Amino acid sequence: MALLEVNDLTTYYKLKEGTVKACEGVSLHVDKGEALGLVGESASGKTTVALSLMKLIPENASIIGGSIKLDGKELVTATEEEMQKIRWKEISIIFQGAMNALNPVHTVGDQIAEVLKIHEKLTDKEARQRTRDLFEKVEIDPDRVREYPHEFSGGMRQRAMIAMAIACNPKLVIGDEPTTALDVMVQAQVLQLLHHLRQEIDMGLILITHDLSVVGETCDKVAVMYAGRIVELGPTETVFTRPAHPYTRALLAAFPDIEGERTMASSIPGNPPNLLYPPPGCRFHERCSEVIPVCREEQPPTITINDQHYASCHLLSRRVKS
Ligand SMILES: Nc1ncnc2c1ncn2[C@@H]1O[C@H](COP(=O)(O)OP(=O)(O)O)[C@@H](O)[C@H]1O
Ligand code: SF4
Ligand SMILES: [Mg+2]
Repeated sequence: MALLEVNDLTTYYKLKEGTVKACEGVSLHVDKGEALGLVGESASGKTTVALSLMKLIPENASIIGGSIKLDGKELVTATEEEMQKIRWKEISIIFQGAMNALNPVHTVGDQIAEVLKIHEKLTDKEARQRTRDLFEKVEIDPDRVREYPHEFSGGMRQRAMIAMAIACNPKLVIGDEPTTALDVMVQAQVLQLLHHLRQEIDMGLILITHDLSVVGETCDKVAVMYAGRIVELGPTETVFTRPAHPYTRALLAAFPDIEGERTMASSIPGNPPNLLYPPPGCRFHERCSEVIPVCREEQPPTITINDQHYASCHLLSRRVKS
């Protein structure tokens, strides 16, 4: 049984103007100890997927269909009370900007200790000791547990967020662009730390990032998202060396140096569609250099290229038929 099994997950936002179809028919799975990279341009729905998995979607959002099974337990229908027992203990998240996630009026140490007291039922003293151990684990001087978030550097806050996310040894951690706000050197250190800790406590990881080289270095599998849908999913090496979807190829071409320096991605010509009014057919058709007439009308089916590699494109179904 997979650790996380997501099937046909669909999450929409309601706005005055209409419905934002931000995540539609998303299916993926993560095994114990496995790392899945989730990539795609900005506004493709990656954060919406992450927040849906945590059941932390904003007020104007709702999960309108699909299933999220964590260790066999359905989360879509779980109550908020049940989710409060599952969050941090079984599934946790490292947000993009740690400053927003940490409470400015409590010390960083107290905030982590609080999580341990609630979820691990530790005494005050035990929680304090374990927080110091966690600080050491994420390479922060344990004496700094008494400091407030604003006294920490950006890199330290991100490390503290990692400490909080792994505090209860969760089975799955989601990192939503956990290093985006940091400078390149610190980014590399924080990602290395996350990778190392993942192996140490054998946790599953979903790493959302626009840095394809990080995915290449640390993720077993990769899911490529475009305009609210996963367009390709497979083992990282296969997807990077033999991409099956035109969007994946465009994304890889915009990021020429996967193995070397973290070069900035150039951009793919055109813009992703407004998800209030997604185009019919394949959502990529307006930008696709390989578009054929059916792409403008029919949503492409998901084709199994081999047992672990899937992509949704009309060209592939033609190839399979012929
Ligand atoms: N609270 C919200 N209300 C309405 N639309 C939203 C909200 N949050 C995100 N969206 C929209 O959902 C789409 C997906 O956004 P998001 O999941 O943040 O993408 P990503 O993380 O890939 O950048 C975008 O079109 C975005 O504008
Ligand atoms: S379905 Fe058509 S438009 Fe979409 S990626 Fe494939 S070829 Fe391009
Ligand atoms: Mg995001």
